[in-house]
Amino acid sequence: MAKETQNDVLEKIVSLSKRRGFVFQSSEIYGGLNGCWDYGPHGVELLKNIKEEWWRSMTYREDVEGIDASILMHPKVWEASGHVENFTDPMVDCKQCKARFRIDTLGELINEKKKKKAIEEFKNKIAGNANLTHEFESVLSSAASNNGESIDAQFTALLENNVLSPLVLAELNCPQCGNKGTFTAARQFNLMFKTFIGPVEDAGAVVYLRPETAQGIYVNFLNVQNSSRQKLPFGIAQTGKAFRNEINTKNFLFRTREFEQMEMQYFVNPAEDKKWYDYWKEQRINWYKSMGMTESKLRFHDHPKEKLAHYAKEATDIEYQFPFGWGEIEGIHNRTDFDLSRHEKFSGKSLKYFDEESKEKFIPFVIETSAGASRSFMAFLIDAYYEEEVKGEMRSVLRFHPRLAPVKAAIFPLVNKDGMPEIARNIETDLRKYFKVFYDDKGAVGRRYRRQDEAGTPFCITVDTQTLTDNTVTVRERDSMDQVRVTSGVLKQYILEKVSL
Ligand code: GAP
Repeated sequence: MAKETQNDVLEKIVSLSKRRGFVFQSSEIYGGLNGCWDYGPHGVELLKNIKEEWWRSMTYREDVEGIDASILMHPKVWEASGHVENFTDPMVDCKQCKARFRIDTLGELINEKKKKKAIEEFKNKIAGNANLTHEFESVLSSAASNNGESIDAQFTALLENNVLSPLVLAELNCPQCGNKGTFTAARQFNLMFKTFIGPVEDAGAVVYLRPETAQGIYVNFLNVQNSSRQKLPFGIAQTGKAFRNEINTKNFLFRTREFEQMEMQYFVNPAEDKKWYDYWKEQRINWYKSMGMTESKLRFHDHPKEKLAHYAKEATDIEYQFPFGWGEIEGIHNRTDFDLSRHEKFSGKSLKYFDEESKEKFIPFVIETSAGASRSFMAFLIDAYYEEEVKGEMRSVLRFHPRLAPVKAAIFPLVNKDGMPEIARNIETDLRKYFKVFYDDKGAVGRRYRRQDEAGTPFCITVDTQTLTDNTVTVRERDSMDQVRVTSGVLKQYILEKVSL
């Protein structure tokens, strides 16, 4: 697909999201707040269904417990986790227009041709310097071994290299104002939002809005284990908001400042870490498939050893093929005993697990599955979006898995007379007790179908003339557009079975 068309797809999704009440820009009437989005009536249902399905698959099992920890935590938590020191992004400012950019995403703002040219020019410029040329070649060959011939990966690798970065930056034009050689040297910028607890706004009152939900699980590890009497291996799961002061937010819900995570930390005997890492990799990718995500648009991206976070022994991303390219929707990490050991050290409290069989005390390893609810929302939305021609007219349809669909069934009277509205209202009242439904009596039935297709409603029920004589209604299925007649008394069972609630 050409680049133009890919952007078009995203634009269409953003526009449909607003039109059909999935997602609105935060504080829109004030000009919006960058990196923050609001979920509308359909969006909140979709998001809730994604989180519920995740919760069902992750915690409706013997070995995983759920929790809901607070967003504000003791500031020492973030010292122990390494976030105060390391949760930083290198960034540069343009001295001319004052725009700020993250080094690792600067390349996304520069087109492929310009990046290629900049690399070539830089290569020529350092040609007489053997040390720089050697460094340049080794950076490019390591980028190529991880990402093939990707110009973007080469460009980013050069910018992230301490020696070459200032020299490359000097050759670049600012993506905002177009001036050349106006970048400052790279500086570290902490992504945590700070606020104050209590009435005094001084250094002793600083707390952070959590940048991930995982730490709430680690600090409660023994509370949960003791109260639930779980034995290794077992997991703790939670969903909730996380906040990051991202420098460059982008691509709709992909990188935002406020978002939701669905995280599970699985505590294992260190001798079994590989087994459980592989197990959770499979479980998690299969979950996206089971929720209808297109298999060919999902892949693992294993992190090469030299790119692993300091706490990780093994890590992979589940990536989805967005219109703008492959992007992470979930990370799976073997975090070893790093987090619990650090919390033990910083709190002075033992977080060791007592193994009753071996009578040993030790710190378990952690296999983490960390999914973005908002990012998955975007992937599910994009994956479900289709445009197709039906009888000479275009229809946009969201082919959500019925379990994720915001509204499960819409009910229409064919015409607003002959007792049809009353029968349709009775059906609506009855079904509303079991799942989300929508009543629509406005306009031609064809138009009502189109409106529901665009909202992803899997079933439309129409009360028509035949209903008046034999008590049957038509049920029209969203994807095939097939219609069957169903006795109105068994509608609840019929839809529940199809939606497999
Ligand atoms: N506890 C590990 C952790 O937080 P991460 O890779 O930083 O790992 C996990 O984040 C997931 O959270 C990502 O795969 C993504 O789905 C989501 N996520 C992270 N930053 C995000 C952001 N700025 N906007 C939206 N989603 C984000």
